[in-house]
Amino acid sequence: MGFYFYIACCVLIIFSKASTAIDTISPSESLPDGRTLVSNGGSFALGFFSPGTPKNRYLGIWYNNIPMQTVVWVANRVNPINDSTGVLKIENSGKIVLQVQNSTSVWSSNTTASVQNPVLQILDSGNLVVRDGRDSSPENYLWQSFDHPSDTMLPGMKIGIDLRTGLDRKFSAWKNWDDPSPGDLTFGLELEGKPEVVSRRGSAKYLRSGLWNGNDFSGHRNLRWNPIFDYDFVSNENEVYYIQFLRNKSVMSRGVLNQTESLRQRFTWNPETQTWQLLISMPIDNCDKYGICGPNGNCDSNKLPACYCLTGFKPKWPERWNSSDWTGGCIHSKPLNCESGDGFIRLRRVKTPDPTNSWINETMNLKDCRVKCLSNCSCTAYTNLDITKGGSGCAIWFGDLIDIKQFQSNDGQDLYIRVSASELKKKDKVNLPIILATVIAVLLGFVLVVCYFRRSRRKLKDKSVNDKENKDENEDMELAVLEFGTIAQATDNFSIRNKLGEGGFGPVYKGILSNGQEIAVKRLSKNSGQGVNEFKNEVKLIAKLQHRNLVKLLGCCIHGDERMLVYEYMPNGSLDSFIFDQTKTKILTWSERFRVICGIARGLLYLHQDSRLRIIHRDLKGSNILLDSEMNPKISDFGMARTFGGDQTEANTNRVVGTYGYMAPEYACYGLFSVKSDVFSFGILLLEVISGMKNRRFYHANGSGNLIEHAWSLWKEGKPLDVADDFLVETGDLSELLRCIHVSLLCVQHHPQERPSMSSVIVMLESRNDLPSPQQPGFLFCKKYFEADSFDGTPSKNEVTLSLLQAR
Ligand SMILES: *[C@@H]1O[C@H](CO)[C@@H](O)[C@H](O)[C@H]1NC(C)=O
Ligand SMILES: *[C@@H]1O[C@H](CO)[C@@H](O)[C@H](O)[C@H]1NC(C)=O
Ligand SMILES: *[C@@H]1O[C@H](CO)[C@@H](O)[C@H](O)[C@H]1NC(C)=O
Ligand SMILES: *[C@@H]1O[C@H](CO)[C@@H](O)[C@H](O)[C@H]1NC(C)=O
Ligand SMILES: *[C@@H]1O[C@H](CO)[C@@H](O)[C@H](O)[C@H]1NC(C)=O
Ligand SMILES: *[C@@H]1O[C@H](CO)[C@@H](O)[C@H](O)[C@H]1NC(C)=O
Ligand SMILES: *[C@@H]1O[C@H](CO)[C@@H](O)[C@H](O)[C@H]1NC(C)=O
Ligand SMILES: *[C@@H]1O[C@H](CO)[C@@H](O)[C@H](O)[C@H]1NC(C)=O
Repeated sequence: MGFYFYIACCVLIIFSKASTAIDTISPSESLPDGRTLVSNGGSFALGFFSPGTPKNRYLGIWYNNIPMQTVVWVANRVNPINDSTGVLKIENSGKIVLQVQNSTSVWSSNTTASVQNPVLQILDSGNLVVRDGRDSSPENYLWQSFDHPSDTMLPGMKIGIDLRTGLDRKFSAWKNWDDPSPGDLTFGLELEGKPEVVSRRGSAKYLRSGLWNGNDFSGHRNLRWNPIFDYDFVSNENEVYYIQFLRNKSVMSRGVLNQTESLRQRFTWNPETQTWQLLISMPIDNCDKYGICGPNGNCDSNKLPACYCLTGFKPKWPERWNSSDWTGGCIHSKPLNCESGDGFIRLRRVKTPDPTNSWINETMNLKDCRVKCLSNCSCTAYTNLDITKGGSGCAIWFGDLIDIKQFQSNDGQDLYIRVSASELKKKDKVNLPIILATVIAVLLGFVLVVCYFRRSRRKLKDKSVNDKENKDENEDMELAVLEFGTIAQATDNFSIRNKLGEGGFGPVYKGILSNGQEIAVKRLSKNSGQGVNEFKNEVKLIAKLQHRNLVKLLGCCIHGDERMLVYEYMPNGSLDSFIFDQTKTKILTWSERFRVICGIARGLLYLHQDSRLRIIHRDLKGSNILLDSEMNPKISDFGMARTFGGDQTEANTNRVVGTYGYMAPEYACYGLFSVKSDVFSFGILLLEVISGMKNRRFYHANGSGNLIEHAWSLWKEGKPLDVADDFLVETGDLSELLRCIHVSLLCVQHHPQERPSMSSVIVMLESRNDLPSPQQPGFLFCKKYFEADSFDGTPSKNEVTLSLLQAR
């Protein structure tokens, strides 16, 4: 009885202590499991938590004033406590220890110095410090958690090395969302040659920042102008570090290493949605991944393929290089000749190469730097260390140049690459004719443009101003009209090598205009059935549509009976080239797929509702979704779209166009189309993205129906996730995945009026509310219709192409 009374007293004492928030403990006190220390301003709390299973207890720091527990630091990462007897204490020496069962130590700090009155305090920055009770100056902290980070970068943390003590602050990701033990993704400052911020996976380099150039890291892209945080880099004889500050102290922002996604992410708390919003994640594109193009390769994510050799270099293994295996990298096209003199080619706006084999001098100027490089036969490149104030300092590289990334805008810095004198001469010789040709071309172009405008103005004068058709036509022509010759030149005379694919109405070619801009040219087949009117229709439509999830039309070309459309070029090709490709499918993780899905939905909503016109796409499918360099989806191919007047929602056509397998039954069977037929196609696209299987091909795989039927029967059996690709189930967010399967089934319901509109689809995808139950989907494709009106007597059920259309 007495014993229980004793326990009750203890509990009372603990509770009375917990009721007043404190941020400090001294050696006479302790912090048992169940209690927390809260920082002075209430931002952070220190206490025990369980990330996954309740059986593992960890001591950690988390954001105190948001409902979503977000842990930023963990003490006993590798040593979880298996019960609730954990206690944190500070010893008289200033050492902090985490004990279980009152005795066993599972973690302790390595405080060596000692003071009279040590205290342990959690600060409002999220830093846990041990200091002298009477001295709060940061220089005199005996120990601080900011020096022993886990996976999270908080503002004010130094990322770097103290050269006096050898302290190296290294971050490492949690192994998993429920396991804080260190994963193999790490992050820190490295001092080889010249300091850089480097992430590694295991021992291999994964992401490099490039050298600090006085203003920024040369591999950072536009980070300086972000609204959330600013940063600085400090290098002196005592310490070298990178540090971030909040621009607005009341914003919450954290950087974190994510093991599952192999990403460095930065999140900002959004008080309205009460969620963490992703601000940036690295790598931004494949070119950020270390050494992707091999030695002496350059990587430009706007090019296809992204890897190419530096000027003066050629692939080491040409066959492998051509089949996108870049590991061999590039070698000098002409061997260097150190004695008889080499020269340098200037490479603009790049991330500086790996500095492992480099040498620097902070005071040397660029001219002396060049001389220094020339004087050593193994020197391969040089540049300024600091590009501010006109440039100063010298960095030179020896041997292979690894991990260069090409930027388009103002990022990166110039790098001078050593090539043989003969290479330089060749370049000079080649250059002159090119310059001449360019000048002539520009002059000629100018003359042509002037002529063109004169002519069209005269045309306009000749014709009746009241003629509406002509007014429209004139409007169209505000679009760039390219000469046939320009396009022929850009596509290398429609060379087969530049062919990107075969669209509904003809082949699509990649081209490069003389100004370097990459384009995609849709060359409409002469017998495509798309006459002048349809052509004009498409040009008119697309030119008026501007949305980040729609492919942008840049111009057109009419040449005799030849018609072409010029679009922005999408380096990553089409969505179905990813989801149906065994190797590429893994590139598109669930979170990326979800982003793609939401992007398509927004693009479609714009077409249906928000654009000036009401447009039904009528041929939505994976091959019509293109991906830009950052994997943003863009809907393409509006050739079959129809314009509607304001309130007309349904129409009838006797010319069914589209692709079987994506068409809504009412459209395929009766030619009835509405925005809801697009919703149906969207539902199928969604299922394909989730399953990695083609709706049409599925028919083959399993004699009994198509993908929708399959998904529907799994849904009815209560196993909806079985329709998803295993790799997505293993790595993706299951609740999102489930929600998307649910939404897809709502979209493919048989009755158009039951299908949600695109605006509800977007709400459903983004909210967490309950969704209505789906009804019978429309997978029974009016077989009678096809059988009765079969085109040549042998309808193949899996891939019927209807009258005028040609499936891709
Ligand atoms: C908890 O861990 C201790 C050692 O740290 C061990 O002796 C004990 O058996 C464990 N208890 C359980 C329930 O696993
Ligand atoms: C913990 O240790 C203290 C002092 O060593 C002792 O007085 C106390 O009884 C112990 N408590 C338990 C639950 O073992
Ligand atoms: C304490 O120091 C030892 C040896 O230097 C090291 O192995 C251990 O990881 C350190 N512990 C902490 C918590 O820093
Ligand atoms: C990694 O990132 C994904 C996507 O942002 C997120 O869902 C997941 O929770 C993150 N994992 C960890 C361990 O932070
Ligand atoms: C800082 O952020 C808070 C909360 O988001 C906002 O209310 C305040 O206006 C911001 N202050 C400045 C100077 O931008
Ligand atoms: C590689 O491709 C280029 C251009 O596409 C071609 O000129 C060259 O012959 C190819 N080389 C090999 C070895 O296939
Ligand atoms: C750096 O360059 C300056 C000027 O050229 C020279 O005086 C100095 O000795 C160099 N320092 C080193 C370490 O080479
Ligand atoms: C050239 O640089 C390399 C690497 O720093 C060095 O080992 C070598 O001695 C230098 N050679 C000359 C001639 O300076």
